[in-house]
Amino acid sequence: MGCRQGGCGVCKVHILEGQYARRVMSRAHVSAEEEAAGCVLSCRIYPTSDLRLQVVGAMKKNVCRPLAAPVNPPVNPIKGDPPWH
Ligand code: FES
Repeated sequence: MGCRQGGCGVCKVHILEGQYARRVMSRAHVSAEEEAAGCVLSCRIYPTSDLRLQVVGAMKKNVCRPLAAPVNPPVNPIKGDPPWH
């Protein structure tokens, strides 16, 4: 993760549900309007309940990757069945 001090904006999230306490955060990364709508820098908040959130900052590409496809059993190219059958 980034700076953890509210200066880089990498950790920006939109809180959809839940309660939290917040510390001062940079207006360069979260405008007053965004904050009023629930956007915060996650490194500057302290959850006081479970949270449901959406990642909107630069870490989205790392956190919100699609799940890997399920691993299928290997297929024996000769028989066409998994090798243990
Ligand atoms: S980690 Fe940099 S603003 Fe949160």
